[in-house]
Amino acid sequence: MISIAKPLIGDEEKQAVLEVLDSGILAQGPRVKAFEEAFATMCGVKHAIATTSGTTALHTSILALGIGPGDQVITSPFTFIASANSILFVGARPVFVDIEADTFNINPDLIEAAITPQTKAIMPVHLFGLSCNMQSIMEISKNHNLQVIEDACQSHGATYHGHKVGSFGTGTFSLYPTKNITSAEGGMITTSDDQIAESCRVIRQHGMRRRYYHDELGFNFRMTDIHAAIGLAQLKKLESFNRRRQKNATYLSNHLQGVVTPCIPPGSEHVFHQYTIRVPDGRREDLMLHLQEHGIGCGVYYPVPIHQQTYYVNDLGYQQSLPESEKAAREVLSLPVHPALSTADLQSIVSAVNEFMSK
Ligand SMILES: Cc1ncc(COP(=O)(O)O)c(C=O)c1O
Repeated sequence: MISIAKPLIGDEEKQAVLEVLDSGILAQGPRVKAFEEAFATMCGVKHAIATTSGTTALHTSILALGIGPGDQVITSPFTFIASANSILFVGARPVFVDIEADTFNINPDLIEAAITPQTKAIMPVHLFGLSCNMQSIMEISKNHNLQVIEDACQSHGATYHGHKVGSFGTGTFSLYPTKNITSAEGGMITTSDDQIAESCRVIRQHGMRRRYYHDELGFNFRMTDIHAAIGLAQLKKLESFNRRRQKNATYLSNHLQGVVTPCIPPGSEHVFHQYTIRVPDGRREDLMLHLQEHGIGCGVYYPVPIHQQTYYVNDLGYQQSLPESEKAAREVLSLPVHPALSTADLQSIVSAVNEFMSK
């Protein structure tokens, strides 16, 4: 079986975890600090703040920006549920703007029409490893005085015109095992703003600046040194992992037939968290069955856009039509692209897809 995702854990990660276990400092300690510093350097920002997951990184960032009940945040409906749920966690409302057909990312041309007096922020989601159009999004945010929270949970190391994602606004990353790098579970916030960084650190630690003095409501969103040790060892491999993902993606795009392969806009470096094709003419479900019969893992990210999820429709009253997101949900299929694939694996994927599509 060729799996859709595979974390690559080596001796470095194992050794680093053993060292933490021997050190006696298991919760947030020196490894978390070292991981944060290395992550900030990778992103080209002043601060990184480690949390327990991508979801808590998003939740903490939104709180740190002062967003709360009655506020609106513009985001994409074609993403993992955590992007929008994190807006709900603080009592604000996600406002969904449709995506571009070619990149699957939020369409900047549609954002201004969705801005209201309640809008406080835009949350671009850099889906599948590809940056959103950050030039347009940053321009709109400046013109309307809006915050930018980047959901970069799928895009570690991706760049837009030479700048790393997570360095435009407040960045958020997931370190879940299927991601380009992992800490088992974990998240990271990136910012060059001293005040936002300080606020995130306080929220992560029960609103505490001085030990047992609580100035505001906070949470326990601290990463452990065990997770940070894995993350730090993985971060050193990010560049090489991403190169292998890109090489695998190039092979697939050069050889696949009868499907729409991923688009890489000029100026963007795609890091292929997912290699996502479109399967036209209602043939996706049958192609999935065919791939499963040939031992090839694949996945649909995402089968239901968020504005059509049961909770959003029944409990929150969403009734929108967002045609590009709905079409993408019917057509997308992600194929294995992870760094552990062999040349033989790639050849098997190509021949199974091409055999089915040529029928
Ligand atoms: C786009 C996006 N946002 C947020 C998250 C949440 O990250 P986590 O699973 O680490 O909480 C994910 C993780 O799958 C994601 O893909």
